[in-house]
Amino acid sequence: MKKTNRVLITGGAGFIGSNFIPYFLQSNPESQVINLDKLTYAGNLSYLEEVAMNPNYKFVKGDIVDSEGLEAIFMEYEINQVIHFAAESHVDNSISGPQEFINTNIVGTFLLLDTARKFWMTKPGQYKSDYEGSRFLHISTDEVFGSLSLADTELFKETTPYAPNSPYSASKASGDFLVRSYFHTFGMDVVTTNCSNNYGPKQHGEKLIPTIIRKALNKEPIPIYGDGRNIRDWLYVLDHCRGIELAFNNGRSGETYNIGGGNEQTNIEIANSLCEILDRKRPLEKGSYKQFIEFVKDRPGHDRRYAIDASKITTELNWLADEYLASGLEKTVDWYLEYSL
Ligand SMILES: NC(=O)c1ccc[n+]([C@@H]2O[C@H](COP(=O)([O-])OP(=O)(O)OC[C@H]3O[C@@H](n4cnc5c(N)ncnc54)[C@H](O)[C@@H]3O)[C@@H](O)[C@H]2O)c1
Repeated sequence: MKKTNRVLITGGAGFIGSNFIPYFLQSNPESQVINLDKLTYAGNLSYLEEVAMNPNYKFVKGDIVDSEGLEAIFMEYEINQVIHFAAESHVDNSISGPQEFINTNIVGTFLLLDTARKFWMTKPGQYKSDYEGSRFLHISTDEVFGSLSLADTELFKETTPYAPNSPYSASKASGDFLVRSYFHTFGMDVVTTNCSNNYGPKQHGEKLIPTIIRKALNKEPIPIYGDGRNIRDWLYVLDHCRGIELAFNNGRSGETYNIGGGNEQTNIEIANSLCEILDRKRPLEKGSYKQFIEFVKDRPGHDRRYAIDASKITTELNWLADEYLASGLEKTVDWYLEYSL
């Protein structure tokens, strides 16, 4: 029997996707998930072992920048929902090599949107009868809003003008605008979520928190950009996953929802907290892991502060972050102590 929802999840072997898929399969047993992932350096299928044998789960290795491949997948699985995670996601890589960010985050997002439009719709505003209710959910970042200053108390709202500063955030902003245009031009049912920095199990070793943990355990210098006072609003990855699911199931079409944990921390505060957890769990013979913290030359165009106003998703969709930062960091360290980086 055909499942009600055949959900194409792109980038499901990455950090957030591999946390999302097991959660989604459990809370949406009537859905079939097709995970399309190119398995770049950032994808890791072993993170999905727990669902590999689930009859509602299927992995397809492929590239979203391949329109014929996308068409074949839509046809074969009669895809009627899309949750789009796939992206090049590391800001530093977008500075050293921006081309892949343009390909995947802009061209790939466009091809995915357009394949869905052609597969689901006959003309603007008109869905094929079998595809009424089909939705395209786009996962984006708060980095599209640019930077807040350390002095101001402002937060990013859904209405904050876009001002991306890195090739990564510019490519994500372009993707967001394409998604927006498919709502206004073609009447496609789209929703976008813009989330703050995630942390938790399964994050790639290149990102800040895994880097701090790995370097500390190796007793190597823990690199912190600039003066360490850049602020990020940290959200535990499973809280993000719940927000995505709510936006997918209950969000209003054409809307964007900011998701953030209200956990503003400077990078140096995060480094200190992680070192303190490691001091308790893996004490050094002498001193604290903090001795390895080292300030390094700042990243070019390094945004000073990100902070999210999540009141829209809280009011409309009843979303609230469950995890406290302290307990979330503790769980994260436990995971990295169990699975090497
Ligand atoms: N990590 C964060 O803090 C954060 C915060 C807000 C939003 N986001 C967004 O969430 C999404 C997922 O982020 P993440 O941290 O899990 O990223 P990630 O880098 O860990 O994973 C990305 C996944 O996409 C796959 N992929 C890359 N290019 C592809 C292509 N052309 N075709 C198919 N698959 C491809 C990779 O193989 C990988 O599995 C991204 O869109 C990112 O912009 C991330």
